[in-house]
Amino acid sequence: MVEHVPFTEIHVSDDIVDRTASVVRSGRYVDGPELEAFESEFADAFDVEHAVGVSSGTSALSLALRAAGVDEGDAVLMPAHTFFATASAAMNLDAKPVFVDVDPETYAIDVDDLEAKASFAARPAAVVPVHIYGQPADMEGVRRVADEYGLTVIEDSCQAHAARYDGEYAGTIGDLGCFSFYPSKNMTVGGDGGMLVTDDAELADAARRLRNQGRNPAGVHVDLGLNYRLDEFKAAFGREHLQHVEDWGRMRRENAALYDERLADVPQITTPTVAEECEHVYHLYVVQADERDALRSFLSDRGVETGIHYEHALHQHPVIVEEVDSTPRLPVVERLVDQIVSLPMHPWLDEREVEHVCAAIEDFYGGERP
Ligand SMILES: Cc1ncc(COP(=O)(O)O)c(C=O)c1O
Repeated sequence: MVEHVPFTEIHVSDDIVDRTASVVRSGRYVDGPELEAFESEFADAFDVEHAVGVSSGTSALSLALRAAGVDEGDAVLMPAHTFFATASAAMNLDAKPVFVDVDPETYAIDVDDLEAKASFAARPAAVVPVHIYGQPADMEGVRRVADEYGLTVIEDSCQAHAARYDGEYAGTIGDLGCFSFYPSKNMTVGGDGGMLVTDDAELADAARRLRNQGRNPAGVHVDLGLNYRLDEFKAAFGREHLQHVEDWGRMRRENAALYDERLADVPQITTPTVAEECEHVYHLYVVQADERDALRSFLSDRGVETGIHYEHALHQHPVIVEEVDSTPRLPVVERLVDQIVSLPMHPWLDEREVEHVCAAIEDFYGGERP
């Protein structure tokens, strides 16, 4: 009998332990062969010219903005429904985040609202579409608006390793793409880590310099950078996960299909919608639920771990309200944050566990609550 359904699970193998142990023995901990191999394998896997390993997804976003020349006072358009880092990367450069509402079905940036916000923004410089929960945003629409307003497209692909939009990998469609390897992501490096990808050699060079104190290959410091490097242990760990990430995306899709089918007849639950052009990798399986908070505590009593991603829209966080001159009303995201709940999701979830979660949801709405 299923008693506990964990929210997520992380793959650790003997191979990973051996790989990282051999880095320990090598004595070479930064800027070595593991990072070089990880970058080149990542670029090959996702069909992109350049991959630059960095210390986190936040670092990747921050370096992407800097490499793209985003400066103090420039407007960076982004969906209000995302993790805080999408905004903090821009705000730490003193750029101005401009918050855009999201599509009520896919939860990704609403292209009509993007166009409206771009047309009003003073100094529009970049747009950061977020492939939220593992489903690519409407990249065709984003590209159209970006071309019209001269925006650099920086994809926040932190939740979307191996997702595809019209056959192309998420993160490789815009000018730059940013990935996170935070432990709960679809692949990790065994701690914090990130990757910035681009087909543009100049942007890649700029990112490489900026991650390493602004130092060029000749050893001269030509930019003001910081230390955003990814170390050798993590690169070694990441190389192993990279080999599986495509399969894990497929396994997550299979588990999502089980939930979809099982929850189709529960009228109080809205299951995720997948756009035709997208191959979703379900970093998170998020439903909209009536009486969300009561449902969560009922599920917790039945041993089911759940989460909320995210409890607040970006423009509602106190620090943002304080720092950004005016915050808009964004009705879709403001409604969503009170209704969404993330159910357990990882590649190794089994049918019995999905059944346990769904049966508990049915019991809740069927009146079996305490
Ligand atoms: C959408 C999104 N953007 C940015 C980040 C930041 O990545 P990290 O935690 O690796 O800095 C994350 C992950 O936490 C994320 O989910």
